[in-house]
Amino acid sequence: MNTNSPIGIFDSGVGGLTVVNNLIKILPKENIIYFADSNNFPYGTKTEGEVIKLSERITKFLIGEGSKAIVVACNTVSSIAIPRLKELSGEIPVFGMIQAGALYAIETSKNKRIGIISTPLTAQKHAYYNEIKKIEPDAEIFEVGSQEMVTLVEDGISYKKYAYRLAEEKLKVPLENKIDTLVLGCTHFPFLYKTVKNVVGEKVKVIDPSDFLVIEVKKYLETKNLIKKDDDSQRIYFTSGNEEEFKEKMQIFLDYPSENVEKIDI
Ligand code: DGL
Repeated sequence: MNTNSPIGIFDSGVGGLTVVNNLIKILPKENIIYFADSNNFPYGTKTEGEVIKLSERITKFLIGEGSKAIVVACNTVSSIAIPRLKELSGEIPVFGMIQAGALYAIETSKNKRIGIISTPLTAQKHAYYNEIKKIEPDAEIFEVGSQEMVTLVEDGISYKKYAYRLAEEKLKVPLENKIDTLVLGCTHFPFLYKTVKNVVGEKVKVIDPSDFLVIEVKKYLETKNLIKKDDDSQRIYFTSGNEEEFKEKMQIFLDYPSENVEKIDI
């Protein structure tokens, strides 16, 4: 492992590209390997056992490709599999979304009334609830899950009015409970930021855990002297699904679209 080793990132589909966009902003020189498990999308309605198995396989693949760090760019996997993935990866660090999102929410909220919108599985696991309560026992947490919103993004967000209606319906209870902070607890959702912001209004801060997470990754690489210094960054995108479809999606979702996409069975 050295400075040129890539950062390995994965998600069930395009959601993790929100994390890639953020990572490139603060670590533009890094080599990146991204794995989209498009063939097994969605994760949010699977069983815990299925999600663990899929994420173990991807983590082994990313480690096999020489990753110097693993970024689990999926809240659903982060709610369930982090201890297991850490066991697998040994000295290679594994970064998950939940702790970063919880710390960010606590730092942002003034009234300690926090809403979380995620996949149904993340909501069922009370991943954010437990993490926030550990640090801030007095906080009130309102969790909601929506798989429809995830699918909408994965399909390329063409139905803006439908997205608004879905978000409005899902966020009704958290808003009635006077939240002042809403965590986008699924990596697909930052792509719906404007829609969600329109629903919650001026007074509610809408936060993306990956803003916090990428800073953690940067700090880690700095302490280990693993920051890449040359400008020749390489970014390779793998999908378990259709390569052409993924290329099209990257045009919509990546700030720096790449042609470097390969279909792979792992
Ligand atoms: N983007 C993922 C997350 O953050 C998973 C979405 C899905 O596959 O259901 O939870």
